[in-house]
Amino acid sequence: MSELAIIFLGAPGAGKGTQAKVASSGKGIPQLSTGDMLRAAKAAGTPVGLKAREYMDSGKLVPDEVVIGVMAERLSSEDCAHGYILDGFPRTIAQADALDHMLAERKRALPRVIEIDVPDEVVVARLSGRRVCSNCGAIWHVESNPTKKPDVCDQCGKAGTLEQRADDKPDVIRKRLTVYHDQTRPLSAYYEERKRLTRINGNRVVEQVNADLMKALA
Ligand code: AP5
Repeated sequence: MSELAIIFLGAPGAGKGTQAKVASSGKGIPQLSTGDMLRAAKAAGTPVGLKAREYMDSGKLVPDEVVIGVMAERLSSEDCAHGYILDGFPRTIAQADALDHMLAERKRALPRVIEIDVPDEVVVARLSGRRVCSNCGAIWHVESNPTKKPDVCDQCGKAGTLEQRADDKPDVIRKRLTVYHDQTRPLSAYYEERKRLTRINGNRVVEQVNADLMKALA
């Protein structure tokens, strides 16, 4: 069985998590979200979580060596043997170099890269209205993708679990966007030069973005 390895690039709120969940179930490969892993470590109070906390809460990137270590361990898991979707990693040139190095050492395929393009003003509106179910991880939006009842998750049926992420506050969103333009956006040119990049327009409804994504992966 050949390996299907994919990286989702894009600004905070571009829809990486939303699309990664659909692609993960459609393609039968795991979604590896560094944001989710770090939030879980933070909630559990592990050494990684304690280190990550101050960076995440202020919208800065967690240091490369911490995130690279987390990802190196996760990629060794059995469920990644036939492929995976990287959601939120790499986010710096150093992380991209480390990933390629790690995969080459393990004689594994280099992932294809899908960049989801969305203008900054759309990002701010999306993140301000995002709600995440603390029970099942489903991602909602108060306007563009609301649940049927305001406080009940349609995916798992639980009430009172829809939460706003700590970093989805206006000042932290602005900081995350600045960090994205300074440190992550250069990855677009990095992968384009290596002929691994496909760009899709993320500023359309979820289903249209997903249709383009599936076409790109076909
Ligand atoms: P992380 O959790 O990765 O956050 P992010 O990249 O900022 O991305 P988001 O999860 O905010 O957005 P998304 O693109 O997944 O959008 P979503 O699908 O949810 O990282 C958090 C923090 O962890 C970082 O700031 C950093 O501190 C640390 N970190 C993580 N990885 C790291 C790394 N590699 N290195 C260093 N530090 C790292 O959608 C957003 C909203 O829009 C939702 O409400 C959704 O319903 C809605 N929506 C989605 N698509 C559409 C659409 N097409 N139309 C309308 N609405 C839509």
